[in-house]
Amino acid sequence: MLQHKKILLGVTGSIAAYKSALLARELQRRGAEVRVIMTPSATEFITPLTLATLTGHRVYSDFTENKDSGEWTNHVELGLWGDLFLIAPATAQTLSAMVAGTCDNFLMAVHLSSRCPVIAAPAMDLDMFQHDATQTNLKTLQKRGVPIIEPESGPLASGLDGKGRMAEPETIADWLESWFQSQAPLAGKKVVMTAGPTHEPIDAVRFIGNRSSGKMGFALATALKQSGANVHLISGPVQLSDPLGVHVTRVETAVEMHAAALEAFKTADIGIATAAVADFRAKSSASEKLHRNEMPAAIELHENPDILADWGKQKRNDQLLVGFALESDDGVNSAKSKLERKNLDMIVLNSTADPGAGFGTDTNKISVFEQNGNSHIFELKSKEEVAQDIVQLIQIQLQQ
Ligand code: PMT
Repeated sequence: MLQHKKILLGVTGSIAAYKSALLARELQRRGAEVRVIMTPSATEFITPLTLATLTGHRVYSDFTENKDSGEWTNHVELGLWGDLFLIAPATAQTLSAMVAGTCDNFLMAVHLSSRCPVIAAPAMDLDMFQHDATQTNLKTLQKRGVPIIEPESGPLASGLDGKGRMAEPETIADWLESWFQSQAPLAGKKVVMTAGPTHEPIDAVRFIGNRSSGKMGFALATALKQSGANVHLISGPVQLSDPLGVHVTRVETAVEMHAAALEAFKTADIGIATAAVADFRAKSSASEKLHRNEMPAAIELHENPDILADWGKQKRNDQLLVGFALESDDGVNSAKSKLERKNLDMIVLNSTADPGAGFGTDTNKISVFEQNGNSHIFELKSKEEVAQDIVQLIQIQLQQ
């Protein structure tokens, strides 16, 4: 959830400022871009050079770039840059200044100009933390929508033992991940998806299958996860590793995929079928490898269950159902008929007639038809970008 997030890290004058270096590192390790602002007193605990070196960006602690040239640092621009302004450590003095709207240093000026959410991780001695004034300030900030990352208990710099230590960098990073997750547009939504091909055994080594690589489904699972959804991906045999944070069930056959998908759909908010499920399986398969002279002249086929159609039969009013249609011609009529027949809210059409679209490619070209009559035609794009387009349309559908 921290991937590509822009985090403005405000460091104030506490001994816990040394942890800011580790915190900046941890946030970057998780994919965030970090810029640091320090109060003048914070620079006495840890040098701006340390944080500038770690983050690869200049550290700001003053209104002026260069006192002789009269250049000044634009606190408004910095305030607008961040997706989040994290003040860690936040001293009792800074918390009080935040409540009062004081603007007596550069960090407080950015605080007043920032439009992004502000989060504070307090650090102070236990008596200062328990003081009515501090507790009142914390409550006021929370009422204004500033979440507080609670300090931890333990030995303090004063020699006392109690609550006041700034939360550990890993704990703060975990906290921020959960927070970003809770703010994401699909937060709280449970999605079940199918992806990849299915392999229908003929004998111990041969199968009926198709050319699906799973790339489209895996890209979509990643995009949904990044939008905050809780994603359960049921995948046929593919050479792709599990998308980060996605629960993956690996299956081989259509019957296995059908069983897993129907069970998971019961508690899902959204069902998406990107899998290229084999429509037929061999009526009987051998558990050993058949030798050339043992192979039957013809393989009798048995129809596989249609997972998406069965989802459509089970669908409740509060569930959203998205299907895919793979055609080899323009396919619009066929896609629209699947939209109706399988009781879908949306169908994504891709055609092997379009160069770079469909099976195995890193790109796709889709048209989307919705139950409400809306349609959307997209250019050829990477499967990651196609996934973003589909997630956006799902978000719009959920708002209707
Ligand atoms: O995996 P890639 O290489 O990235 O390729 C992506 C893709 C081309 C496989 C994907 O974009 C795609 O189009 N998936 C659907 C392929 C397909 O089987 O289309 P269909 O028109 O035959 O089926 C219609 C819908 O019913 C699909 O959502 C399919 O998942 C579903 N279905 C079909 C048959 C079946 N037995 N069960 C199903 O759930």
